[in-house]
Amino acid sequence: MKVLIVGGGGREHAIASALLRDERVSELVCAPGNGGIAKLARCVPVKATDIEGQVALALEEKPDLVVVAPDDPLAMGLVDRLTEKGIRAFGPNAAAAQIEASKSFAKSLMEKYGIPTAACGVFDDAESARAYVKEKGAPIVVKADGLALGKGVTVASTVEEALEAVDSAFGGAFGAAGSRVVIEECLFGPEVSMLCFTDGKSIKTMVPSQDHKRVFDGDKGPNTGGMGAVSPVPCYTEEIHDRCVKEIFEPTVAAMNAEGCTFKGVLYCGLMLTENGPKVIEYNCRFGDPETQVVLPRLESSLLEIMLAITEERLSEVDVVWDKGACVTVVLASGGYPGKYQTGFEISGIEEAEKAGGLVFHAGTKAGENGAVLTSGGRVLAVSAKADDLDSALANAYAAAEKIDFEGKHFRTDIGCHAK
Ligand code: AMP
Ligand code: GLY
Repeated sequence: MKVLIVGGGGREHAIASALLRDERVSELVCAPGNGGIAKLARCVPVKATDIEGQVALALEEKPDLVVVAPDDPLAMGLVDRLTEKGIRAFGPNAAAAQIEASKSFAKSLMEKYGIPTAACGVFDDAESARAYVKEKGAPIVVKADGLALGKGVTVASTVEEALEAVDSAFGGAFGAAGSRVVIEECLFGPEVSMLCFTDGKSIKTMVPSQDHKRVFDGDKGPNTGGMGAVSPVPCYTEEIHDRCVKEIFEPTVAAMNAEGCTFKGVLYCGLMLTENGPKVIEYNCRFGDPETQVVLPRLESSLLEIMLAITEERLSEVDVVWDKGACVTVVLASGGYPGKYQTGFEISGIEEAEKAGGLVFHAGTKAGENGAVLTSGGRVLAVSAKADDLDSALANAYAAAEKIDFEGKHFRTDIGCHAK
């Protein structure tokens, strides 16, 4: 079978590796891909958000399956467009992708169907948003409504900070994503990412994982796309899981059906385990990054089979089996990320890291001359490693990550700090 993957980060590299574990995958194409994916797939330079370009590529390549991995093309309706052309595509359609693309859609859905989440108000003008902040007091959370690359959220510890966030969103800091603002009660507790496969009829949950969003050790500094992840998450017990299935995952899939926007693909539930039970912080309509780099290495079943089954609404027939061990990923970023950073530096030590047992997933890399691999993005590599338990997986991931070098390399040294 020929598979086309849309996207080009560490997540897509992990998806490509997992798909190739099924020997039915005879040809892999990735658009745009990156320097690491190029070793597994033929990369074609079409941007993930170039919907016309992606449709044209799929019509030309005639893949048996297109996997649309990032949120933007999903929200822009790439799966709808491919399906109209008779091409089998994995991922939610645009209507279902609203669960991530519009925080106000997600909040109203949870409110209407009684799914536990933070109390909130939704505002289309600065004046009423400011009045709400003053009425509720701090701490309080201010979120731009639309997709803002994970940067549209301010957890404000003072009223002044919250008011500034309101003004900056309505002042255009996040473009159209900030013309509507969601203001939420601040929740406390450990965060867990639960990714679920669903075809709208049944749900198969993945193993839990935990991201580390801040750039520096001790959860200091600005939010990033994610600096590392671990799986499993010890505080996410069987008991909590059963509760999440009944109170969150099943009701969410049922709610999407009831709203006429059946969700088929990966539903990512960002949870906070509060004193009053698990609550939804956010939904994403796709695999997480870097969560995928710790979750998919633990998948023993065929990812291809699961994806095909979802497109045919027969997920209930497929066994989804996970290993009993652990996996950790450490993200190596460019110096300065998530602010300004330079690119084009040669990366050394990737083979040594792989020899040391690391699974090196490329995020922001490109092929240089004579086989060299160069940095080309903020998050450069996600270095994962597996083991029987979390402590050993952590040691293995750091041992592998330390073999790799490039100018300005920055990483957190405390991945796993919340899992102890
Ligand atoms: P989001 O983009 O919605 O995932 O938010 C980014 C981060 O902000 C989350 O991972 C949380 O750490 C934090 N956050 C979001 N909403 C809340 C909330 N209601 N209470 C506390 N922290 C939150
Ligand atoms: N790691 C967070 C996300 O993928 O949205």
